[in-house]
Amino acid sequence: MSVSQLAREVQESPTLKMNEAARLLREKGEPVIHLGAGEPKSKVPIDAILSCAAKLKTADIRYTPTEGIPTLTKAIIRYTEESYNKIIGHENVIVHAGAKQAFYNLMMTIINPQDEVIIPAPYWVSYPEIVKMVYGVPVLVHPEDGRFYPTMSDITQNVGSYTKAVVINSPNNPSGAVYPEEFIGELVEYCEKKSIYLVMDDIYQKLVFNGKTAPPCFNYSKDDTDSSRLVVINGVSKMYAMTGFRIGWTITNRKIREAMLNVAAQNTSCPSVLLQTAAAGALNGVQTSVESLRVFLENNRNVMVNELRAFNGIKIIPPDGTFYCLPDFRAYSKDSVELAQFLLDKALVVTVPGKEFGMEGHLRLSYCGTVKDITEGIARIKWALDPDSPNEIYIGDRKLRRDWK
Ligand SMILES: Cc1ncc(COP(=O)(O)O)c(C=O)c1O
Repeated sequence: MSVSQLAREVQESPTLKMNEAARLLREKGEPVIHLGAGEPKSKVPIDAILSCAAKLKTADIRYTPTEGIPTLTKAIIRYTEESYNKIIGHENVIVHAGAKQAFYNLMMTIINPQDEVIIPAPYWVSYPEIVKMVYGVPVLVHPEDGRFYPTMSDITQNVGSYTKAVVINSPNNPSGAVYPEEFIGELVEYCEKKSIYLVMDDIYQKLVFNGKTAPPCFNYSKDDTDSSRLVVINGVSKMYAMTGFRIGWTITNRKIREAMLNVAAQNTSCPSVLLQTAAAGALNGVQTSVESLRVFLENNRNVMVNELRAFNGIKIIPPDGTFYCLPDFRAYSKDSVELAQFLLDKALVVTVPGKEFGMEGHLRLSYCGTVKDITEGIARIKWALDPDSPNEIYIGDRKLRRDWK
């Protein structure tokens, strides 16, 4: 059976692949530690659950307007004002089935075949694949070794006549880096001058540590017209631990939104009304769960960084946000895919190879699980990699052998 050339070229999601590998091992009763997860495990806010349950009880579950239900779009408008001090209207908002779909629909809307999208490394694995899925060309920009964000000259050197957009994700998956204010300011100004779309994926915007905030692009935008090419993507997945609800949104100008509405109307029609109602419940409800999650993650970040700092040969830049870090394991292996597989096979620890994020030699480690998972996971990684470790250890009555070359 033949599949399209495009489908053949789209890569499997490495994070979902690792999740599946961990699930299968757990099903077999293996004591797997998951440091590859991309979702917090905290409970969904009660306001989301109650709103969703009340809607379900009406037994009146229908299509909604493609742009989203008014209670949700109103909540997003308020969120945007409170979080960015930016006043927007309904004509600027469109709701999607997750931030991932928001990015896909946006690319569908703005990219012509061969248009280039600049994506600084390390980047979220889906950006290049989605750009390819709309026949665009991802231009991957690798900052100088040892840095997790580009300079302006890294960006400008890659801008050419086909450049249509730059995509920035800060706080960043997979590094946890928060991009400096000066860089964001210069980038907004540059993109506006050059009429290039600047897409800010703010999905981790609320999960920042040490009393910092992620500098928002709106602070620097001078172009408030319908030709403004600044687009902000966000959603409920990370800040409310609502990954399974699949609700995200785009803030953009009226013209792009209208075109995006046609794209969305012809693929999903609208996200489920139940899930939109839940997202509205979360945004309109008590916000304490967001701060509790942030504090929990900051504490876990500290544990993870301390464990890694005590790990000979590993280089770690402490993350300022998200629930990921991206330590440099090149002292042990330059091949992160092989290394991640080795750690899964021998130590039963799930990590995600940095190669998938454009950072070979690194591993993405998540700290959204328990402190016990973090400490035990790192201890097992150390055991597996340290040439002086015993060749065998027991986890309960399960024997692990590392056979390190
Ligand atoms: C940077 C980034 N953007 C978007 C998403 C997807 O979010 P959603 O669950 O809303 O589709 C993720 C999920 O891992 C992400 O890391």
